[in-house]
Amino acid sequence: MSDPSLLDHNARAWDKQAQTESPWSLPVSSEQVEQARRGQWQVHLLPSPVPADWLGDVQGKSVLCLASAGGQQAPILAAAGASVTVFDLSAGQLDKDRMVAERDGLSLQIEQGDMCDLSRFGAESFDLILHPVSNQYVPDISLVWKECARVLRPGGHLLSSFFNPAVFIADRDPSYAQQGLIRPKFTVPYSDLSSLDAEARQAKQARMEPLIFGHSLAQQIGGQLEAGLYLVDYIEEMHPAPRFEIEKYLPSFIATRSRKPV
Ligand SMILES: C[S@@+](CC[C@H](N)C(=O)[O-])C[C@H]1O[C@@H](n2cnc3c(N)ncnc32)[C@H](O)[C@@H]1O
Repeated sequence: MSDPSLLDHNARAWDKQAQTESPWSLPVSSEQVEQARRGQWQVHLLPSPVPADWLGDVQGKSVLCLASAGGQQAPILAAAGASVTVFDLSAGQLDKDRMVAERDGLSLQIEQGDMCDLSRFGAESFDLILHPVSNQYVPDISLVWKECARVLRPGGHLLSSFFNPAVFIADRDPSYAQQGLIRPKFTVPYSDLSSLDAEARQAKQARMEPLIFGHSLAQQIGGQLEAGLYLVDYIEEMHPAPRFEIEKYLPSFIATRSRKPV
């Protein structure tokens, strides 16, 4: 389990973010739900939709949308015929899924908790886990991969996305970006708790921004393999609206599809 004060801060930061209707918190429309009921749908792990062959036929499948609230993936998968559990730390984010489910008559199991502790779910409970960019909010993602491997059925798939570790290394002082410069400042693995000085960290907390962690590829991909999953597909994608200079030069996002062996 993650540190309770970190969880408490990040839950409150995400509750605040949920109120702003940021892209991560903007629920799908009734029209999108209706189209999904008719078989026309897509969900996202990256700016582009998840490839159809990564998802397969979700009809009747047991799906866990992990750290994925905001009224987006879970309602669409439920409308497409899956039996969906949406699990997230933030009550505000989960309220978006609840709102869509009530508005459009969908059945969703809504669960609040930390992605590092899925102990409320039995082993081999899910055919598919959809885990969009969110593991930057926990310091030890080996726990997430182990829990995913435990709750997946043999032959089930884990679809995850996460940040390229390279996006964490640069000094974010805007004066460098204004000159087109990328000044390396932080090593990977990055941690808001140990890489930032106390003043910068406290300022971030005072602004109610979530605290983040930049994991290495060994932690991201090696961690899934160590948990006993097999990597079967891999995609990288550029940020459509680069926030940092470095994002103009390399893909910000990585998505993996891994399978629990039979
Ligand atoms: C970028 S959003 C992703 C959700 C969104 N539906 C999407 O399309 O990508 C990250 C989510 O991670 C959740 N989160 C942050 N820390 C978490 C934790 N420790 N356990 C579970 N969820 C967490 C946040 O509340 C937020 O809903």
